[in-house]
Amino acid sequence: MRYEDMTAQQREAELAHQRQVFDEFKAAGLALDMSRGKPCAEQLDLSTPMLSLLQSAEDCFDAAGLDCRNYGVIDGIPEAKQLMAHLLDDEPDNVFVFGNASLTAMHDAIARCLDYGCLGSRPWASYDQVSFICPVPGYDRHFAILEQFGIKMLPVTLGPDGPDMDEVERLVASDERVKGIWCVPKYSNPSGITYSDEVVRRLAKMPCAAADFRIFWDNAYCVHHLCAEVERQDQVLDIGIACQEAGTPDRYLKFASTSKITFPGAGVAAMACSTANLAEAKRLCGAQMIGHDKLNQLRHARFLPTADALAEHMNRHATILRPKFQLVQEKLQAGLNGLGIATWTDPHGGYFVSFDGLPGTAKRTVALAREAGVVLTGAGATWPYADDPQDRNIRIAPTMPPLEDLDLALDIFVCCARLAALETLAE
Ligand SMILES: Cc1ncc(COP(=O)(O)O)c(C=O)c1O
Repeated sequence: MRYEDMTAQQREAELAHQRQVFDEFKAAGLALDMSRGKPCAEQLDLSTPMLSLLQSAEDCFDAAGLDCRNYGVIDGIPEAKQLMAHLLDDEPDNVFVFGNASLTAMHDAIARCLDYGCLGSRPWASYDQVSFICPVPGYDRHFAILEQFGIKMLPVTLGPDGPDMDEVERLVASDERVKGIWCVPKYSNPSGITYSDEVVRRLAKMPCAAADFRIFWDNAYCVHHLCAEVERQDQVLDIGIACQEAGTPDRYLKFASTSKITFPGAGVAAMACSTANLAEAKRLCGAQMIGHDKLNQLRHARFLPTADALAEHMNRHATILRPKFQLVQEKLQAGLNGLGIATWTDPHGGYFVSFDGLPGTAKRTVALAREAGVVLTGAGATWPYADDPQDRNIRIAPTMPPLEDLDLALDIFVCCARLAALETLAE
């Protein structure tokens, strides 16, 4: 029965019952972590054989005969460009292989725009204020980068097939200081949605007041499906092709990394973009470094030598993750369906489920869960400035805990979501 349809007396009884359940969880003194989208140990084990691929000096030469133990090659060795081109849905020639984190690559790309402008445009830092469109719910670390640089964030609703494009088009057409947009186009963090072709085309062709408007296309979950069957995998139209067709070939910067393919923090990141953008990035980065870790690039390229090898490896990840995502759906449905207090997403890939409770309950739910020993991502984290105006969105990150822990953590989560809703309805 929907909580709202209950009599005050029925709700009181339900509140008392949920409090009792909560107290029992609390007394168990648990310490469970569902806060960050990290791979679990079993997933990390999949890539551990990669560490022994370079055993001798002879192993350290790339396909072109270059000694990867030494300085050089700022934009990546050929086989790493090939691997990252698979992820970025692009040609190796358009790829710049970076270090261990796409977040650094994105941060630095924005820093270059601020300091130098783009392809001869006015440096963004020379405006009194520039802003970025931030589809919400979104990724907290994207917001942290903008906040650090003092770039104003403009939240726009992210629907089931991408950002509200009417609103995006309105914003970019009206003000040349609107300089960019964050996009996680496939299995978005946290909602797990994938952009429709129409949204991608509209992003590519929308008239922008800023000639140097940039789409930061963070395809972090590009090959991170939960099912091996192709018909149950989302596909996203390539923004590079869409921009070329729309006559805006320099508008996009695509990013990806192997953080959730091999090792977070010890993977390989890359950017793909137009020839002009690539040449500019290479020139500016040339003052910053001589080259990234080519031995790591080599290890990755040898470990995942073809698109098929990559797909097989990702299937192994999916086999580990699928039961966890299924459990989330089962537990939320069993515990919350029909109460009229929550909705949640059921993604085909990625690392998260996005949960919306009743307005005004997210912070309370997260605080209750913490009290009962379950750490969740902070309420509000999915919004710029950590300010969810309705206080209702929570990011569920089920990948890291073992299945048994996740089972318990979800029971606690459900109890806390019910308690928070009942408290709010009682007010
Ligand atoms: C959308 C998105 N982009 C980037 C990252 C971080 O990637 P990297 O480890 O390559 O910096 C994450 C990690 O959670 C993410 O969800």
